[in-house]
Amino acid sequence: MRGDVAILVPAAGLGVRMGPGAPKALRLLAGEPLLLHAVRNVAVAPSVGLIVVAAPPADVAPVRAMLAEQPVPIAVVAGGPTRQASVACALDAVPREYDLVLVHDAARALAPPALIESVAAKLRAGSSAVIPALPVVDTIKQVGDGAEVIATIDRSALRAVQTPQGFRRSTLAAAHAIAVDNHTDDAGLAERAGVRVDTVPGDELAFKITRPFDLAVAEALIASGATSVRVR
Ligand code: C5P
Repeated sequence: MRGDVAILVPAAGLGVRMGPGAPKALRLLAGEPLLLHAVRNVAVAPSVGLIVVAAPPADVAPVRAMLAEQPVPIAVVAGGPTRQASVACALDAVPREYDLVLVHDAARALAPPALIESVAAKLRAGSSAVIPALPVVDTIKQVGDGAEVIATIDRSALRAVQTPQGFRRSTLAAAHAIAVDNHTDDAGLAERAGVRVDTVPGDELAFKITRPFDLAVAEALIASGATSVRVR
């Protein structure tokens, strides 16, 4: 099935952990803005019929111009002060005909289109909410105020989760409508609303580019040809 998914791309973060500079989505990766890489990968996924980007409020016009030449329609709206607020702004811009809505961090710029297809397929198969998840490889400890170890957590049941996270539109809208506290992902809101959240296998290429180290890893992956990102 083609084009039945609207995908929201929150890209309004400042990127404080990346160090001083432009908003993170506009920083360069292999010579082009991170957001352009992210949107290109999204735009080639056959399921995607509409992309709604939440841009830094001061950069809506340049972001719109930067994303003008994509194969699917793109709307650019001003993001909010938190990721959650940015997602809510983008969701407001989705026309009613889209029943399936995915949310995908611009910072996960190298996520392969196949991951979008996998999440969308699970939604079409009947799930209300779907997230990509990977096993945790490190041993995880709980620590106290003095950085002393309190406990070792059994990692066998733990997962590191990624985006795109997919929802029936009504599920995502209802979860945002009743949100009182701030969540770092949309599945957290859905869980809070009592929705069953299913998982599909994640992809290492969907890692979040947060710190300078991550940017260096992303550059190396692109240079090695390991990603599906097309570079000019
Ligand atoms: O800050 P964090 O790394 O969790 O951000 C994840 C994604 O949410 C990034 O793509 C970032 O641009 C976006 N974001 C946003 N609006 C904010 C803060 C973060 O769209 N106010």
